[in-house]
Amino acid sequence: MAAPPTLPGGFLSHIGAMRKDFLGWLTDATRIHGDVVGLPLGPGRPTILLAHPDAIEELLVRNSGSYEKSGQTRYMVGKFLGNGLVLSEGAEHAKNRRLVQTAFHPSKLEGYTAAMVVETARLADGLAPGTTVDIDAAMTDLALRIVARTLFGVDASATTARVGEAMRALEGVIQARFLSLPLPSWVPTPANWREARAVDAMKGIVTELLARPAGDDLLSRLAAARDDDGAALPAQQIIDEAITLFFAGHETTAHLLGWTLMLLAQHPAVEDEVRAELDGPAFPALDRVLHETMRLYPPSWVFDRSSTEPVTVGGFSFPKGQKFYLSAWVTHRDARWFPDPERFDPERWRTPPAIPKYAYFPFGGGPRVCIGRSFAMLEARQILVTLLRARRFTLASDAPVVPEASATLRPKGGLKMNVHGLSP
Ligand code: HEM
Repeated sequence: MAAPPTLPGGFLSHIGAMRKDFLGWLTDATRIHGDVVGLPLGPGRPTILLAHPDAIEELLVRNSGSYEKSGQTRYMVGKFLGNGLVLSEGAEHAKNRRLVQTAFHPSKLEGYTAAMVVETARLADGLAPGTTVDIDAAMTDLALRIVARTLFGVDASATTARVGEAMRALEGVIQARFLSLPLPSWVPTPANWREARAVDAMKGIVTELLARPAGDDLLSRLAAARDDDGAALPAQQIIDEAITLFFAGHETTAHLLGWTLMLLAQHPAVEDEVRAELDGPAFPALDRVLHETMRLYPPSWVFDRSSTEPVTVGGFSFPKGQKFYLSAWVTHRDARWFPDPERFDPERWRTPPAIPKYAYFPFGGGPRVCIGRSFAMLEARQILVTLLRARRFTLASDAPVVPEASATLRPKGGLKMNVHGLSP
């Protein structure tokens, strides 16, 4: 079997284009070379981008056991996510996933709604008409408060502020490591130093939270869990799961909300349709908008895997240790699955489109599918309904909002919006 095409030139010849517009660079690679293409993302063997839904399904679902999280991902986030759900593998992952899953059971989700509404209403009260806010930053704070309250039973805003500070530092660490040559963690770079401080801060916070009397929150349940031999989870494992959930559970939803508010402001007819159902019992137009927003601006715009044995995928064979990229940004903007792909058109989702299942995968798939996906959709719906009932938002500037491919897909430089009351 021939090798798949690879972008000509090495890492250094592409670094300028990658740093300038990574999303465009990635999209061009597959549009020019096809659904399976080698990317010179660093020194050594190229990373293979799999852009076709069937190959994505093969890797995530049908043959998921032949892949693991890549060394690159471990380098970027391993030091602070430790052995939490995002990075654990095999039987240990399955066991811990079952434990964490208890917090996302439908009966539990129901109980989180009130906190989501109360926190959003408090935020809306503080957004004075006539002012301009960075709505993406406001959504990030809000989503963090909601995770802290619902999953960890944290009400104290001082504690949430400390978590927020640690999370911002860790996001900066990823930013610093992305598209730069790997350095060992003992090298005293500013990123390694910031990371060590943030991890220490998070350890301190989780230890304080664990010292509280046991309640009905996820931390209490993780602390009380026993395996078949009656052994408790090691304290470090609980800390890792907590940091993982704080980290994976707020920025993604926050950016989804930011992008949604931007698109509504840019498409007044769609916003009218969403507003028309705000007082009703269900929100189908809003759900279509959320689907379409995650198509165009998938918060998890890329993730990767590495093969643990020789594999065949996308029509080619690869050795053990081959690194793969899956990019919702690339596949969601493919005209074969979504005609006129750059156009924001929530109507695409009025009836389920006849497309391959993994042409759309904002939450991944298979055994590692996002554990928080129902939580995130409930939260996005509750926040938007509460916010739109209280305020209107318009973009503060006509300049295009540029997506920045960081740990998550976010509006570069934030998202400034003008706040309005509801009366015209
Ligand atoms: C719109 C919001 C969200 C998006 C787009 C999103 C997306 C994703 C994606 C694509 C994955 C799979 C990554 C991979 O296979 O490598 C993932 C995994 C994960 N997500 Fe989310 N997520 C969102 C919200 C949340 C929330 C609210 C939580 C928790 C409160 C959460 C916790 C996790 C965890 C723990 C994993 C790892 C699961 C595992 O490997 O078993 N996510 N998410």
